[in-house]
Amino acid sequence: MIRDMKLNNKTEVASLKNVIKYYRLGDVEITALRDINLTLREGDFAVISGPSGSGKSTLLHILGCIDKPDKGRVIIDGFDTTDVALEALSGLRFIKIGFMFQTFNLIPVLTAYENVELPLLFTGADAASVRSRVVDVLKKVGLSERVNHYPSQLSGGQQQRVAIARALVGSPRLILADEPTANLDSRTGDEILTLLMRLNREEKVTVLIATHDTTIINKAKTVINIKDGELW
Ligand SMILES: Nc1ncnc2c1ncn2[C@@H]1O[C@H](COP(=O)(O)OP(=O)(O)OP(=O)(O)O)[C@@H](O)[C@H]1O
Ligand SMILES: [Mg+2]
Repeated sequence: MIRDMKLNNKTEVASLKNVIKYYRLGDVEITALRDINLTLREGDFAVISGPSGSGKSTLLHILGCIDKPDKGRVIIDGFDTTDVALEALSGLRFIKIGFMFQTFNLIPVLTAYENVELPLLFTGADAASVRSRVVDVLKKVGLSERVNHYPSQLSGGQQQRVAIARALVGSPRLILADEPTANLDSRTGDEILTLLMRLNREEKVTVLIATHDTTIINKAKTVINIKDGELW
């Protein structure tokens, strides 16, 4: 990841250009992101780190097209999303971006298999290829024995692995992971990190992780710091 757009000729996967985000609560306005510029390229393995409330989740949500900025542009795989409504971006989101939420955001009434299958149901792929892809990706995260379990029947680490499988199932070029190890013991956290690093190395998936976890920060190729909504 670099902030100067022209230093490197690897393919741009996603970028933010002069992004500003405000939140309003009653009369109070908070500037959560102030003029953010960053570019993620193919094969990047980057961490965004900063204190609680500094804007990490907000930045990931905007880059992941889950939320819109108030000003600035969000470009995903060469496509400028600025003038497109969030609802109309769901297709792009499912295909290009795998998002791991700070709280896993699994759907409690769906099994592990069904949670992972969900993004593919929006792509129009045929049933047989959906099935084989879901089975493959659950195997990749080591959950072949748990496909019919509901989230409440899984440990925290297993739920996080379902969330990773769901993020990977559409073969995205970009994975955005919000504190992926915060709710896990250190061994399970290491396994999740190893899995993300393997995807980055072997499948050239671009990864951006928001975290305070020093183990992850030490292994990242790039560390970006954020404070009060500003990169530094
Ligand atoms: N929906 C919202 N409405 C109003 N203010 C919000 C909203 N979401 C976040 N904020 C505010 O925006 C700022 C940035 O929040 P954000 O969640 O991006 O921080 P963070 O760096 O992810 O923090 P943490 O490490 O605690 O997860 C904070 O001051 C927060 O209170
Ligand atoms: Mg956060």
